[in-house]
Amino acid sequence: MVQFLGLGLTHYPLLATSDDHMADLLRYTLADPEIPPAEKDPANWPESMRAEWSDDGGTAAAAEHRKTLREHLARCREALDAFAPDLIVVWGDDQYENFREEVIPPFCVLAYPDLQVPAFGVMNSRGAPNAWGLPEDTTIRLRGDRSAGVALVDGLLAEGFDMAYSYRPREGAHFPHAILNTQLFLDYDHAGAAFPYPLLPITVNCYGRHVINRRGALARFADRRSELLDPAAPSPQRCYDLGRAVVRALTANGDDRKIALVASSSWSHAFLVDRLWRLRPDTAADERLYEALVRGDHDAWLAVDGEAIAEAGQQEVLNWYCLLGAVQEAGLRLRWSTFVPTDVFNSNKCFAIYGDEAR
Ligand SMILES: [Fe+2]
Repeated sequence: MVQFLGLGLTHYPLLATSDDHMADLLRYTLADPEIPPAEKDPANWPESMRAEWSDDGGTAAAAEHRKTLREHLARCREALDAFAPDLIVVWGDDQYENFREEVIPPFCVLAYPDLQVPAFGVMNSRGAPNAWGLPEDTTIRLRGDRSAGVALVDGLLAEGFDMAYSYRPREGAHFPHAILNTQLFLDYDHAGAAFPYPLLPITVNCYGRHVINRRGALARFADRRSELLDPAAPSPQRCYDLGRAVVRALTANGDDRKIALVASSSWSHAFLVDRLWRLRPDTAADERLYEALVRGDHDAWLAVDGEAIAEAGQQEVLNWYCLLGAVQEAGLRLRWSTFVPTDVFNSNKCFAIYGDEAR
């Protein structure tokens, strides 16, 4: 019989940088000439945002944010070690990393062998030093499981999910940071170098309408005039159904295995919330989802449509829809969760641990 554990955590790229760079995404947005000066003026920001920004551009608050995130990551790691998984299935977004103009799969199983990859991603290559003081060209080993990937794709096909798969990452591109940072942050003490568990990633096209035209990331308001929108992301319901199908596929052959199921992403991202001038995340929208998560109210999650999710900058929450479908199918209950709001550090973060009755 397969046993499952569920985890939700952040892959926040700025956590891999130093405190004085943690508010760099906000600094980028503040340099957008099309944002009205009054919106950029800290005097007009919410009190909580002014307090974080303070008189040092958020550096002191960054140390506090890091401490909080590390505590919650350590709690997730503890649950993972107590469970001792044979395999970790991770849902994470591909932000114009592996998948670009040639093809954007709604979902893709990365059936990779073990790989040695650069430890630090896109923010570090933009000039922010890594948080560990290590050489910027440090690499870490990601353990993969190709045969588990092949079996999962076959199982999903049998479940009516025509799943894409990949055997190697794109050359010359950053390894998808949603996956890389899952290892980096769950093994924060060793900068990802001592993580013992193999990963079986499933990428989700969370960025949908902006995956190509904004390269899954930042843009200026002026760019909207020439923006050719891409097709939408897979719907929340489809992501939820994928999570359910993954659990059925993993249990189909009757193996005795322990499998952790992980959603890797923060929630609302400031740089995706046009109605707040991309200055801060949509915390009210996140709080509604968080309250429903704590209640175990998946219907409330499924009542939100994909366009509403995108307007709230919650594109990456689609990874969490996969997790919620999976824990529902596996019969896991929420054991612990916490919500970490922030105005200055781009995204609100959520952490969750799901276990079965005995765990
Ligand atoms: Fe992401």
